[in-house]
Amino acid sequence: MRQDHLITATQLSRDDIEAVLDRARAVADDPAAYADRHAGRVLALCFFEPSTRTRMSFDSAAKRLGMNTIDMGDVDSSSVSKGESLSDTVRVIEGYADALVLRHPSEGAATLAGERVDVPVVNAGDGAGQHPSQTLLDLHTIREDHGLDDLTIGVMGDLKYGRTVHSLAAALTEFDANQHFISPESLRLPRSVRFDLHETGAQIREHDDLEPILDELDVLYVTRIQKERFPDENEYHRVAGEYQIDAETLADAPDDLTVMHPLPRVDEIAPDVDETDHARYFEQAHNGIPVRMALLDTLLENANPDGDEGTEVGR
Ligand code: CP
Repeated sequence: MRQDHLITATQLSRDDIEAVLDRARAVADDPAAYADRHAGRVLALCFFEPSTRTRMSFDSAAKRLGMNTIDMGDVDSSSVSKGESLSDTVRVIEGYADALVLRHPSEGAATLAGERVDVPVVNAGDGAGQHPSQTLLDLHTIREDHGLDDLTIGVMGDLKYGRTVHSLAAALTEFDANQHFISPESLRLPRSVRFDLHETGAQIREHDDLEPILDELDVLYVTRIQKERFPDENEYHRVAGEYQIDAETLADAPDDLTVMHPLPRVDEIAPDVDETDHARYFEQAHNGIPVRMALLDTLLENANPDGDEGTEVGR
């Protein structure tokens, strides 16, 4: 992968994806070999929205590479609360760190950050836009179970606001996956995402119900209805709880069906699914460590081709 930043899954070729996933496999097999790889470097965590997995797994991944991390903290305790712009915020923070992980409620925020700073920027979610590092760990999880060729995947839930869906769907076009999208009419894929998928020649089909296609699937990727993104809470309550699965739903599923979820879940996957052989969402979350180690390693290698170590202080 010869990229400065990771902003969107659409920037990743099949070769880019496979290179990061191969490195993630190597990291998982021999973490000690990567332990001091980036000693002296600093990762900045800039989260303008809540996060458990992404923030903590990047923090952990960086430390497992020998890095230190600095965290902007909650928006309310940062100078963002005084009205500082995103542009000024990231330009300041790039002087404190060698790479920056950004989550922000506005689509396009990571693109703007990437234009303003020279250190690598990872988009850790920009509104209802993209979440490409999640996609890499999703693909790692799928590859471990099924490989990435000849894949048939069903993606169910909030396809309109679900940024993990938008990133994953784009990346899967690199592998010519058969993609089925299951949602209520009001939460279908955004027109722009559907247009981009069609532009790549992707074969996508949209459905109201899971049941007719369940037996075709290798992977069922379930998502939360993104309550926080609905302009009208009544609209959320109209669709909340419509797309739920439990162990009974999966009774006739293929034996090797992999059930995934980017988490957090609310009620879309019942706890009894956790006890089935299909459940893979906790491993999926744990795969954030080797995958984000591999991603940071790759971006920092690209940014420092001569292997110089540590932050240049006071640029
Ligand atoms: N999957 C994911 O992005 O989780 P967090 O919101 O907890 O980071």
